[in-house]
Amino acid sequence: MKLLITAGPTREPIDPVRFISNRSSGKMGYALAFAGVERGHEVVLISGPVSIGSPGGVQVESVITAKQMLDAVLRHVDECDALIMAAAVCDWSPATTSDQKIKKLDGLSTLALVRTADILQSIESRKAHRVFVGFAAETQDLMNEAKRKLHSKGLDLIVANDVSRSDIGFEVDANEVVLLERSGTVTLLPLMSKHDVAHRLIEWVENRVNQRACPA
Ligand code: CTP
Repeated sequence: MKLLITAGPTREPIDPVRFISNRSSGKMGYALAFAGVERGHEVVLISGPVSIGSPGGVQVESVITAKQMLDAVLRHVDECDALIMAAAVCDWSPATTSDQKIKKLDGLSTLALVRTADILQSIESRKAHRVFVGFAAETQDLMNEAKRKLHSKGLDLIVANDVSRSDIGFEVDANEVVLLERSGTVTLLPLMSKHDVAHRLIEWVENRVNQRACPA
């Protein structure tokens, strides 16, 4: 199986020394890439800036901005059997990026932002038989928000993750997630390592890809 996985945050530059980003460490996306290789799959990993070493056997494409991540996904999506969007893509970027460090003396007091493209929505027409999985990292109304994104982003599965809890979510090695399938099936996974969550997810994708290849 050919897996396309995105991981980590994106960074949207304000000037050469400042950027907007988020708290994603990339651990979940990298755990997915490791698990994909451990299970014998071909993995392309599109990674935002993280402090994790490249998993052996994975083709890593490093990107910085949401636009670069979109372009990389567009380049690889047609050749994959499944896409897992674990990246925390920045939803806004500065309306302009300064070539030089902005000085306080310049008098800037607010920053104009523009929305970045939604990567999953931008590639909905390229889905065809492919399996698409997304993540919903929420601080409130977890299940409703996850369900909304499952449908609005044309996904087969969304992984709902309560990032308001400090023992799971950002920067830690454990996770406790709920899997919501397009069919309506909901599976609560117990607290486990991101490595184990990754194996459960890849296993789910394997089953779904196989079902599509040999429908009953
Ligand atoms: N995503 C994406 N493109 C974006 C933002 C998010 O493809 N510009 C993907 C993420 O990789 C994830 C899913 O969409 O798989 C949900 O991301 P999330 O940040 O939870 O949702 P948003 O759509 O950004 O909505 P909001 O920030 O309003 O919760």
